[in-house]
Amino acid sequence: MVTRILTEKDAAQAAKIIKNGGLVAMPTETVYGLGADAFNKKAVADIFKAKGRPMDNPLIVHIAKIEDLKLLVSDIPEKAIALASAFWPGPLTMVMPKADGVPDEVSAGLDTVAVRYPSHPLAETLILLSGTLIAAPSANLSGSPSPTEAKHVLNDLNGRIDAVLDGGSCEVGLESTVISLVGDRPRLLRPGGVTVEEIEGVIGKIDIDPAVLDRLKQGEKAASPGMKYKHYAPKASVVILKGSDEQYIRYVNDRKAGGVCAICYDEDAERLNVPFFSLGAKNDASAQAKNLFSVLRSVDDSGMKIAYAHCPDINGVGLAVYNRLIRAAGFEVTHLA
Ligand code: TXA
Ligand code: MG
Repeated sequence: MVTRILTEKDAAQAAKIIKNGGLVAMPTETVYGLGADAFNKKAVADIFKAKGRPMDNPLIVHIAKIEDLKLLVSDIPEKAIALASAFWPGPLTMVMPKADGVPDEVSAGLDTVAVRYPSHPLAETLILLSGTLIAAPSANLSGSPSPTEAKHVLNDLNGRIDAVLDGGSCEVGLESTVISLVGDRPRLLRPGGVTVEEIEGVIGKIDIDPAVLDRLKQGEKAASPGMKYKHYAPKASVVILKGSDEQYIRYVNDRKAGGVCAICYDEDAERLNVPFFSLGAKNDASAQAKNLFSVLRSVDDSGMKIAYAHCPDINGVGLAVYNRLIRAAGFEVTHLA
């Protein structure tokens, strides 16, 4: 299969590929998604094949009109309406009771479905022109960092999908916030661009799933199947260092072995005497979110063996940065004394 590179002017062509049961990687404001017709079982199964994704990990369905929620959700929770008015279109995914028409292939056999209304204009155009709804996981090979540029998609999936719709680099840079609205209390399954603080401002206190901050304990069931897999694993070992700025700099500069680099903040850079990759300014969690995945890809391209990461602050969008980074680090955190 030859993967075509399409741009905005080719949106109708991309929509036709979706309509005909093909796979198109599309830009969203979070990361690129690998899209297919959510109601075409064969096309949905092809997504799993192209990514090498475990079949028990369900997909998010993308809509571009609120009315279409009823095609997917059997009983729309009141809190979903409130959250949709506050944050859609945008980087928030809601898990709700699934309507009968949603194929089991999409929900991986669960009786719930995850739905998102993305704000990227090209994603919106593609969904509307396709005349269907688009199921899309992130457009990377399972286990590698999510793509934030069309070239990342091609690195992973060239020859495995019909087309990539190039919409430039993604604004948020990390996948959407996922919240489940099916239990007694809303539960954060994955932190992202819409923060816990913002959500609680609209619907009150929510629970944070333990898998957001920690490794699942042996035998523990993942509320979100995607949380149980090791994610975003770069080839280098990533170690998160928790401590003061001074302790971080001293510890990294004391490593004498070769192949050591730092994943740091702009403010650390000039004091480090190892190669470094900066996530952005220390107090700018949005920049850190936007840069994280390309930094992880760059660490790998550099051939470094160990990357020492400055531990992110877990407030606001920082929680999402920390959540992705501890997975990249295989939950390896060193506390500096
Ligand atoms: O920003 C995003 O969310 C991107 C763009 C393309 O929209 N998509 C994305 O999809 O990150 P993916 O498949 O890489 O991650 C979806 C996450 C997975 O952790 C999956 O397990 C979880 O959402 N999920 C999907 N459906 C679910 C459900 N019914 N119940 C619980 N978790 C679900
Ligand atoms: Mg993914």
